[in-house]
Amino acid sequence: MIYADNAATTRISDSVLKKLLPYLQEQYGNASSQYSLGAKAKHAIEQARKQVAAAIGATSSDITFTSSGSEANSWILRSIADNYRGKSIHIITSAIEHHSVLNACRALELLGVEVTYLPVESNGRVSIEDVKSAVRPNTKLVTIMLANNEIGTIQPIAEIGEFLHKRDIIFHTDAVQAVGHIPVDVGELKVDFLTASAHKFNGAKGTGILYKQSMIKLSPLVFGGEQERGLRAGTENVAGIVAAGYAIEESIAKMSETAKRLKAMVDTTVNAIQTRIPTVRVNGNSEKRLPGTVNLSFDGASGESLMHLLDLKGICVSTSSACTSGSDKPSHVLTALGLTEQQAKSAIRISYGRYNDMNEVESIVETICNAYNKIIAVNLYMKK
Ligand SMILES: Cc1ncc(COP(=O)(O)O)c(C=O)c1O
Repeated sequence: MIYADNAATTRISDSVLKKLLPYLQEQYGNASSQYSLGAKAKHAIEQARKQVAAAIGATSSDITFTSSGSEANSWILRSIADNYRGKSIHIITSAIEHHSVLNACRALELLGVEVTYLPVESNGRVSIEDVKSAVRPNTKLVTIMLANNEIGTIQPIAEIGEFLHKRDIIFHTDAVQAVGHIPVDVGELKVDFLTASAHKFNGAKGTGILYKQSMIKLSPLVFGGEQERGLRAGTENVAGIVAAGYAIEESIAKMSETAKRLKAMVDTTVNAIQTRIPTVRVNGNSEKRLPGTVNLSFDGASGESLMHLLDLKGICVSTSSACTSGSDKPSHVLTALGLTEQQAKSAIRISYGRYNDMNEVESIVETICNAYNKIIAVNLYMKK
């Protein structure tokens, strides 16, 4: 099998797995228990909090663990609305956010919150000028992702942060695709909130990260005990949190070597495919892009058919984000770039990760080109 869908999720790192397992076996204590097994679990969580904080230039007290990036995003949006309950407020976001932000915004609209969904340029970038001109007197939050999950485009977060910093507007960035893959520093980005998810950087599924440096109070999504300093009820996922701490450290230690390798693999893939199928287009920005992620449209073919043909050959890629693939709607990200429904439906996302290597590229290119030619031949035959 060749797994080239690392934007959907990543394989847990071997060394991180070794650190995680004891917390499911010998050290399985509940972090709220008063005896030493519990204290060890609590200590492990605090150690992970320090590791995560150090990785993004934060302090430990700014970090809260959640069950996912989706929970962290939803929680922030919900809390903003709760903090300004009874007041007319406005939120700015972009049309290409992950659904955990977009659907949370839609839910807030039902409560009377005004939301502006900024368009993006044809290369997938949000324009800073658009952010500036969307600001209203009652704008309380801007939430723009650091890197997009379908096209990998990196947004000008530090520049937007610089602008918002001087105003009384809270700034959140969904950095789920970025953390562990490109340098992320909350101070440089000038964000008040940042979210991440451990399964995207070779940690385990089930651990999200919420960074907060803001007066805004997080209002509980779940009621119960006093876990996470009274902010988030529910017995902590100690093993997942421990894994998040080691995984983020390891990703950062390997980041520059991995990024160089993945970028070379993406470039080789795109060049080789375009040499054989010149009509193939790259969606999104080719420069400001995550090193391992690329989205390609194949004129005249369906991305879904391509994905299934690749699957038959043991190659995993996806048609859009993992959360929306399977829906028959064209991707909201690709249509926001100006692609027609047909172009959007002809796209696949290849996302390389730490465990891929250049030897796999030839096989991926060969299989994609063969699958594409097969689809085109069948289409021609059907037209006769
Ligand atoms: C940009 C982005 N935000 C949020 C999420 C949600 O993260 P999680 O899978 O941890 O819920 C994802 C997952 O694909 C994502 O890519």
